[in-house]
Amino acid sequence: MTYQSLAKPAVLAQPVYEPGKPIEDVARELGLDPAGIIKLASNENPFGPSPRAVAAAKRALEQGQLYPDGGCFALRQKLASAYGLGADQFIVGNGSNEIIELLGHVFLSPGDEAVMGNPAFVVYKLVTLLFGAKAVEVPLVEHRHDLAALGRAITLKTKLIFLSLPNNPTGTTNEPDAVLTFVRALPQHVICVVDEAYAEFVPNPPDLRPLIREGRKVVCLRTFSKIYGLASLRVGYGYGSPEVIALLNRVRQPFNVNAIGQAAAIAALDDHAFTTACVAGNRTGLQQLETGFRSLKLDYVPSVGNFILVKVGDGSRVFEALQRSGVIVRPVKSYGMPEWIRVTVGTPEQNKRLLAELKALV
Ligand SMILES: Cc1ncc(COP(=O)(O)O)c(C=O)c1O
Repeated sequence: MTYQSLAKPAVLAQPVYEPGKPIEDVARELGLDPAGIIKLASNENPFGPSPRAVAAAKRALEQGQLYPDGGCFALRQKLASAYGLGADQFIVGNGSNEIIELLGHVFLSPGDEAVMGNPAFVVYKLVTLLFGAKAVEVPLVEHRHDLAALGRAITLKTKLIFLSLPNNPTGTTNEPDAVLTFVRALPQHVICVVDEAYAEFVPNPPDLRPLIREGRKVVCLRTFSKIYGLASLRVGYGYGSPEVIALLNRVRQPFNVNAIGQAAAIAALDDHAFTTACVAGNRTGLQQLETGFRSLKLDYVPSVGNFILVKVGDGSRVFEALQRSGVIVRPVKSYGMPEWIRVTVGTPEQNKRLLAELKALV
């Protein structure tokens, strides 16, 4: 008997997630010097981590022999006072990816449905399928969530609806008022998961807290991987009603978030100078890329995130060629966009290099 024959059917049917390639992998595979490679593939922060977070992480490492605080008490307290919510309204995860999985553990069974945009962050679909539920994908219109169509896709079997604002891979968002109206109109058996991974880059993102206070079924997700530059430490969080947070805590592993990450995240929340500079740097970088794409006569999707879709013809070919020249971007063929690539906004020098390499290719 093989392992495969013993595995659960949902596992065998599970599509494989392809992450952005690490610099070391590309260097090894292509025989390049890692120092000359830039990675603009995973929407990381090109300005590095918050320096205050790095200092706190180093201090925490000195206590590396101890298990972390499994309940992330200090971080949840800090988040609670920043948001004006209770500490019991937050759950911290090993990246916000883990919270998406916890939502699946708690709410999705075979036969259930989860509604999501297409394209949208692929982990919604992966988690939905892993729990044997059906992923109901609703095409975007002009690269934005079609809220009316998402609403029409809801059935009595729908448990979750995922809204990523801004959406990955498109970098687009929806009007705050339209989002709040949409969520208020959802039926009582549907939980709206609002993924705010890139919300800090947006000047005026929808604020779901009033709806949470009203008792609407909303869970919001945020991460320290993007604006705070702490992707390697894997810290994300969700917030919602105390009831939903208690359910998510039931299926969480006791020590899911390490102490180094917790310490770094707490310090990062205080580093307003860093995040303000990153938002400004991102805005300038987006303008630099958009100007460059226009002069290369390449279509792009105007973005409010820290990444941008650009239409290059054969996305896979351009991805491969850029990689050979030491610039890692993301092909989005698997998102149904074979003519496009997704590029993370880099430092001015990185953006310049990408544009120069693209010019030689297209
Ligand atoms: C929309 C969206 N949500 C969540 C995540 C996951 O972030 P984390 O690093 O917190 O797991 C990402 C990562 O790229 C993302 O694009």
